[in-house]
Amino acid sequence: MKFVVTIFCAGLISAVSCQLRCLGGPHHKSTPSSETNFQECFLYAESSCCHANFTQKLSDSPLIEMNNYYYNRCGNLSKRCEDYMKRIECFYQCSPLASHWIHPNISEAIQHVPVCQSFCDKWFDACHSDLICAYNWISDWTFDETGNHCKNDCIPFNKMYANGTDLCQNAWGISFIASSSPCRCLDFTETDTKVIKYILKGDNSEESGEEEACKPRLQKPEDKKAADPEEHE
Ligand SMILES: *[C@@H]1O[C@H](CO)[C@@H](O)[C@H](O)[C@H]1NC(C)=O
Ligand SMILES: *[C@@H]1O[C@H](CO)[C@@H](O)[C@H](O)[C@H]1NC(C)=O
Ligand SMILES: *[C@@H]1O[C@H](CO)[C@@H](O)[C@H](O)[C@H]1NC(C)=O
Ligand SMILES: *[C@@H]1O[C@H](CO)[C@@H](O)[C@H](O)[C@H]1NC(C)=O
Repeated sequence: MKFVVTIFCAGLISAVSCQLRCLGGPHHKSTPSSETNFQECFLYAESSCCHANFTQKLSDSPLIEMNNYYYNRCGNLSKRCEDYMKRIECFYQCSPLASHWIHPNISEAIQHVPVCQSFCDKWFDACHSDLICAYNWISDWTFDETGNHCKNDCIPFNKMYANGTDLCQNAWGISFIASSSPCRCLDFTETDTKVIKYILKGDNSEESGEEEACKPRLQKPEDKKAADPEEHE
């Protein structure tokens, strides 16, 4: 029976169903499970590494503070920018996919998660005139019991970062890399669960079905507008 299960996991069924693991952060569950009453991060409600109370807190707008980490040290973020910040938070805290990229030495951290270039560029665009004082949001602060404090002046995102690639690859330290592949990357939509198996197989494997799986991303922007309400803003 064990043998059958192993084949089942390694084979056609998505890696997701076999990956019963979460990151080791203080607010992560030990294994993903379904949640009700999510207020945010709906993408992960069926298999989640965060508790619903995390999403209740995250649903505040403006987003002020999470676990003593302040998002508004340079003033409130714009709604558009905030939405991107929340999608990243949701992924880190709730997604069962995150543990595929667990940092080898720090179980609460991730490294080199491939994020779609298009997501990085849209994130940069959404935040371009919002203000920020840290280039690396993990380390470029002074920390005390009242949380993170600016060490440097507040400047717009588009002065702090050269472009979306710079933002993706540096804002959360080494957590993310910008991927030029249209398919083998995450964009924090439901397409992620369809493409994850191709991402995990590595860049040089040829796979039928890959293009079909990431079809929503390959549609022309005009088509996408109708299908994706987020793009209307
Ligand atoms: C969130 O809910 C979980 C499970 O119900 C609980 O263990 C945890 O302490 C709660 N966290 C907060 C901040 O209330
Ligand atoms: C940020 O939002 C809060 C809550 O709506 C509001 O009280 C505060 O005045 C805003 N801060 C700035 C600088 O606009
Ligand atoms: C993990 O720790 C080892 C041993 O200290 C070190 O060689 C390695 O570079 C670390 N890995 C990362 C990604 O920091
Ligand atoms: C983004 O900025 C980096 C750092 O300045 C630069 O090396 C890279 O060429 C830029 N990429 C694009 C696509 O403009």
